[in-house]
Amino acid sequence: MSENPLIIFGLEGTAWNLSAALVNEEGVIYEKSATYTPAIGGIHPREAAQHHAEYMAKVVGDVLARSREDGLKLDAIAFSQGPGLGPCLRTVATAARALSLHLGVPLVGVNHCVAHIEVGKWQSGARDPAVIYVSGANTQILALRRGHYRIFGETLDISVGNAIDKFARSVGLTHPGGPKVEELAHSAKEYIPLPYTVKGMDLSFSGLSTAATQAAKKHDLTDVCYSLQETAFAMLVEVTERAMAHAEKKEVMLVGGVGANARLGEMLNTMCLERGAKFFLPPRSFMGDNGSMIAYLGLLMLKSGASTPLGESKVRPGYRTDDVRVTWA
Ligand code: ATP
Ligand code: FE2
Repeated sequence: MSENPLIIFGLEGTAWNLSAALVNEEGVIYEKSATYTPAIGGIHPREAAQHHAEYMAKVVGDVLARSREDGLKLDAIAFSQGPGLGPCLRTVATAARALSLHLGVPLVGVNHCVAHIEVGKWQSGARDPAVIYVSGANTQILALRRGHYRIFGETLDISVGNAIDKFARSVGLTHPGGPKVEELAHSAKEYIPLPYTVKGMDLSFSGLSTAATQAAKKHDLTDVCYSLQETAFAMLVEVTERAMAHAEKKEVMLVGGVGANARLGEMLNTMCLERGAKFFLPPRSFMGDNGSMIAYLGLLMLKSGASTPLGESKVRPGYRTDDVRVTWA
């Protein structure tokens, strides 16, 4: 490692988690988060943004205090520029701009999805994987090709995380439903057929979610949770397997909040074993949204010479993964 390793401050807050972190090439130095949990229903964008505004001083202040205690000099402020919920993104961008001006260090606007991927590679040791990125807002199967993470397949309607969360709410479970559905599925006794929808390389989860809600009126809830997971994950494994073959990759890596699900990891691992490929799973703490992933991508970008002038720091709610030019690979 070089004499003066870069230290990046990262700020995440695209949806449910406000999180700030200090990262260098060796690892995460410190991370502090504040989680927004809706009292009822799903995530309300303005409520989430209010939550982030309320906790911003505490979360950012804690991380800055730590950097002062350790005598660290920050080299840049990285922030999640998109995609995400507009009000949340604006709250985060405003804080990041203020920090960058106050400390006199560059601002680096990063793509949240690419941050999930890069932190996954860093933490799992994958080098050139086919990536399955599954979260509350996104479902994409990608691989790096000619300087971009090319999307081989994605959802045509809602993400797999949203499909599970919606179903969970419909049967009275609180948000986020993913972990609760996983837990209930362990007690299941039988599989109930549910719609399996793969169109070419793309997927559809909306009908599956509704069908699971209907099935829960007639069947045991644990059986429905299990069947929903088995169906949705089998769809994801099918597309990942084909993307891997098509992109000629020998590695598969799972990232995003839904990646915390042990059954999905197990199914992907089995597929990889059958195909002579290697499966990579980053530690659970890096799966859901976190400040470290934003700081780490900021570090890669800064090293490759990229930063974001104030005039270009506008939030990008619809920022596409394949829009990002991968200058650091
Ligand atoms: P993105 O902007 O990347 O879509 P996000 O705001 O959805 O991010 P993530 O933390 O990446 O946030 O993902 C949250 C999702 O992960 C929720 O839908 C949640 O239910 C799901 N999830 C978390 N743990 C599990 C689990 N064990 N099994 C299934 N789903 C899970
Ligand atoms: Fe995310």
